[in-house]
Amino acid sequence: MSVLIAGNWKMYKGPAEAIEFCRAFAAPAGADVVVCPPYASLREAMSSGLTVYAQNVHWAEEGAFTGEVSAGMLLELGVAGSIVGHSERRQHFGETDETTARRAERALEAGLGVIACVGETEAERERDETEDVLRRQVSVLSPHDRLVVAYEPVWAIGTGKTATPQMAQEAHALIKSLLAAPVLYGGSVKPENAEELLSQPDVDGALVGGASLDVDSFTAICETAARLSRS
Ligand code: 13P
Repeated sequence: MSVLIAGNWKMYKGPAEAIEFCRAFAAPAGADVVVCPPYASLREAMSSGLTVYAQNVHWAEEGAFTGEVSAGMLLELGVAGSIVGHSERRQHFGETDETTARRAERALEAGLGVIACVGETEAERERDETEDVLRRQVSVLSPHDRLVVAYEPVWAIGTGKTATPQMAQEAHALIKSLLAAPVLYGGSVKPENAEELLSQPDVDGALVGGASLDVDSFTAICETAARLSRS
């Protein structure tokens, strides 16, 4: 299987910067590459032929849900999938296991790909609850050939702290014992640590935040993925 690298731009890059990025970026042959821009830049990011995912998607087809976007609307734009349940949505916007599951289920049903995020907080890891948290978060998801899970330990997101390859491997093996799906690692992935993380047997790719905003660092991570996909 090709190693999948997804760049989550979070709330960075409006349309002009998205165009600039896509003009300068060429996905290396061999890796599967996805970018996840903010809604406002989806169309521009697609203009260069890149596979584009949204950062969230609602479960209803339409309705009085201010600020939300439906799977049908994303499909109409040509978007291929969406992230759901990102820890920043869970932390700041009240997303729960239940809403994550509803978003994932509807998006898959509609024909989108889904990257469903799971991961423990620092306090949960310190209390030795990582396994329970992952079991609970994964239990609401059902296997699907377009479903990918992203293991993103919350304490490693945007902090520069990365899970050790062994920690990532252990969490990925647990997730895969619960659900048949590829599992991406996310949390301070950079060109310098991509190889050791992506070389773990149950790490199928990466969900990259900060390092996906820069063409050179994102390219370097994608090149590592392409090399490992061939080996
Ligand atoms: P960083 O790579 O900036 O730590 O972010 C990870 C992430 O949240 C990707 O979804």
